[in-house]
Amino acid sequence: MGTPFISLLEPSKLEGFQLGVPRESLPSTIPKTFLDAMEVREEVFVKEQNVPGENEFDADDPRSCHWVIYVSVNKTEVPEVRNEEGDIVRPRKSSTRSTPVGTIRMVPFPHEPHPKPGGDYWNGVLKGDEGNATNNSAPSARQFVHDRPTTFHDGKEPYIKLGRLAVIKDYRGYRFAGQLVRNALEWIKKNPSFFDPSIRELGLEQMGASTETEAPQWRGLLCVHAQEQVASAWAKWGFEIDEGMGKWWEEGIPHVGMFLRLEIGPKDIQISA
Ligand SMILES: CC(C)(COP(=O)(O)OP(=O)(O)OC[C@H]1O[C@@H](n2cnc3c(N)ncnc32)[C@H](O)[C@@H]1OP(=O)(O)O)[C@@H](O)C(=O)NCCC(=O)NCCS
Repeated sequence: MGTPFISLLEPSKLEGFQLGVPRESLPSTIPKTFLDAMEVREEVFVKEQNVPGENEFDADDPRSCHWVIYVSVNKTEVPEVRNEEGDIVRPRKSSTRSTPVGTIRMVPFPHEPHPKPGGDYWNGVLKGDEGNATNNSAPSARQFVHDRPTTFHDGKEPYIKLGRLAVIKDYRGYRFAGQLVRNALEWIKKNPSFFDPSIRELGLEQMGASTETEAPQWRGLLCVHAQEQVASAWAKWGFEIDEGMGKWWEEGIPHVGMFLRLEIGPKDIQISA
């Protein structure tokens, strides 16, 4: 296994993507990095953790940043053949492929409200609350509304969400997940205004602001909906469990909320598009 490398895909158009459809049959406009991310997510979440395939690709994917970690894997295409004397009569033929082995995504605000403690969510919809049209709304229709305050979130401050962290089973234990998380954190620290909405495009009203200084701006807060069994790994990367968020279920898997605050310098308000 060679030295791994990481690719970043910024928000992109993913129209026509369907999980389970072979790559060659998908629109050529879908970036390869995204197809690689979904190859990993399908393997880990759908095949290994039994998350329904139709819930894996969602409305947040086009507006998110995705990171994929690759390793060079050497594969024997045709095995070596030796004669009775042990001489090679046909050499081994091999090929090297940059194989996607892990992925993570970073979702900008606004988000759905914090999950209800004890809630059972399927595809972002709370069980027993299926008729409520505000659940799992398209991100473009989401307003900057006030959420319930939790231990680390006052319910108002815009936060960025990390998620869909996955590493293929055979490649676990090599710190690939750690590299992905650190890479994503370093990138957002260098680009703290990346997700700040443009006042000119959205208008102050949709942002829930009356003046430019009230417009939502990211100030360094990151959240993760961590699978409970992985909370200790997120803690190693600096995230702290938010007791006030409680525990809930997504696709039948128990989750807890965790936050990290990154120190970022002062920012200019983004007024232009
Ligand atoms: C969780 C996952 C991404 C970790 O990938 P990985 O590349 O093996 O993780 P790393 O090697 O970077 O491990 C980082 C640290 O977390 C720990 N860790 C890794 N997986 C863990 C787990 N499931 N539970 C507890 N700790 C874990 C490691 O021991 C390591 O600690 P160390 O640095 O002190 O040795 C991988 O196991 C996975 O894809 N699991 C299934 C999907 C999943 O649960 N995703 C998380 C959604 S929140």
